Amino acid sequence: MLSESVRKIHSDFESDLIGVSNLKDLEDVRTKYLSRNGLITSLFDELKNLPKEEKPLAGKLLNELRDFASNQFKSLKDKLELSSSVDNQKIDLTLPASFKKLGSRHLLTQTLDEIKTIFKGLGFSVFDGPELESDYNNFEALNFAPDHPARDMQDTFFISKDYLLRTHTSPVQIRVMSSNKPPVRAIMPGRVYRNEAVSSRSYCMFHQVEGLYVDTDVTFAELKGTLVSFAQQFYGGDLNYRFRPSFFPFTEPSAEMDITCYLCHGKGCKVCKQTGWLEILGCGMIDPNVFKSVDYDSEKLTGYAFGMGIERTAMLKYGITDIRVFFENDFRFLKQF
Ligand code: DAH
Repeated sequence: MLSESVRKIHSDFESDLIGVSNLKDLEDVRTKYLSRNGLITSLFDELKNLPKEEKPLAGKLLNELRDFASNQFKSLKDKLELSSSVDNQKIDLTLPASFKKLGSRHLLTQTLDEIKTIFKGLGFSVFDGPELESDYNNFEALNFAPDHPARDMQDTFFISKDYLLRTHTSPVQIRVMSSNKPPVRAIMPGRVYRNEAVSSRSYCMFHQVEGLYVDTDVTFAELKGTLVSFAQQFYGGDLNYRFRPSFFPFTEPSAEMDITCYLCHGKGCKVCKQTGWLEILGCGMIDPNVFKSVDYDSEKLTGYAFGMGIERTAMLKYGITDIRVFFENDFRFLKQF
């Protein structure tokens, strides 16, 4: 009799539990079966009235039913509590994931890396030198006359009578030659300073890459070949170029290299001042006086040098018209590259 009731209550309990989807319904089921007056608890009362010999078996069955029901109740309760706490957080699983924004290399770094890669491919190694430089390395050893206008307070940030913030990367040529026997073939990138009014075209600080090749029998033709190869790799294959005579104290002869204006393709426009050409660098054959200052034998050696501004190079390549954007770190500019 009792065992039949146990079986029935067992299956009723299971089917009641299947219909439960929230904690309130679950509590109703608990009250119905497991509370003080619940169906299972009441069965224990009936145990008293059973004949003595039936009691052990019936007791065992009842204990099993109660344990089963309590366990089922508990595990469903845990499950429902967990899902209701997730519901409360209102997680929208359809929202796109939020990714951390990664930084990227500054356009100047990218441009310099590209320049370095090209010159390394042409057999150049990379050196650097200090931004605080001696007047001797920056001017005198490079054959600047004592009264050269570039030494003027207007152009140079002097730190003391003999020290200054370098105005170009050319003094690194002196350092490289002074501490290395020829042949040397190197590029020397770095930051330079000039005491200039800040405008869209000039800044008090910018970057240059210097180049140097010294050996026996280095020719102007090699200088041209190297720079044309660089320009073709950097600016693109089908560009037109020209070398114009110029003057720098540390090279003789000196030249400036122009490439076809990227904007008007040589027709003439505002950017190239109607010439169709854009100057990209200065260069020349190393002046014997420079060799003298680093104890190189100017009878046996020849060499070439060149220098270009990295900001200017990037501006020409990407059509940037204001140099100040390189230093403002405006995210809208930076993220374009
Ligand atoms: N130092 C020059 C400047 O700042 C650039 C330059 C011109 C470097 C000719 C050179 C060179 O090595 O040969 O304007």
